[in-house]
Amino acid sequence: MSISTAPATPVLADLVCAIREVVQLERSPAESARLVAERLECFLARPNLLPPEYREGDAGRYRQHLVHTEDDGSFSVVALVWMPGQQTPIHDHVAWCVAGVYEGAEAEQRYELRGAGSTARLVVAADVVNAAGTACGFAPPGDIHLVRNAGAGKVISIHIYGANIGKLGTSVRREYRLPIVAD
Ligand SMILES: [Fe+2]
Repeated sequence: MSISTAPATPVLADLVCAIREVVQLERSPAESARLVAERLECFLARPNLLPPEYREGDAGRYRQHLVHTEDDGSFSVVALVWMPGQQTPIHDHVAWCVAGVYEGAEAEQRYELRGAGSTARLVVAADVVNAAGTACGFAPPGDIHLVRNAGAGKVISIHIYGANIGKLGTSVRREYRLPIVAD
C-alpha cells in the first residue's frame, strides 16, 4: 500500500502536477529525469515553495522531509536540509532521480565503478557544485555519487525520485565503501 501525503503549499501542489504530467508520458528513466529536472527548475526561485517545517535541519545528520508520494507510487518528492559539513554516504539509487537546489549550494562528487569483487574500486568522474536555482536529473546505472554541504550556511534541495519513498523510506539502492583511486 502506498503512503500518500498532500502537498503542503499551493506551489508544491503545482509542482506535483507538473511532475505528474511528465511521468505519465512513460518515457525512459533517463528522459523522465531530464524532463522532470526542466520542470523543477521553474519552481526553484519561488520563495513560498516550502513551508517552514520543511526547512528545518537536524544538527545530527542531513534531514529528509517527505513532501509527496504519488498514490500509484510512480514518484516521490522530498526536501533535504543540510547543515554545514553534512553529507550522504557514497550511494546509488533505486530509480531515476532529480536534484534541484533551493537554497545555498550542493556539492556533489560522482564516481565510476571499476572492477568487481576484491578488485572493485571507485574512480572520481566529476566534482560539481550545484547552485541554487539549478536542477539535474540522472538514472541508473552510472548514478553513484556523494552529496554534501561544503558551505557555511544551510542548504535546502528538492529531490524527486521515480519510486515510492513513502514506502521504501529511502532512494538509496546501495552504499559503497570501496577504495577511491585516480583514473
Ligand atoms: Fe543520491
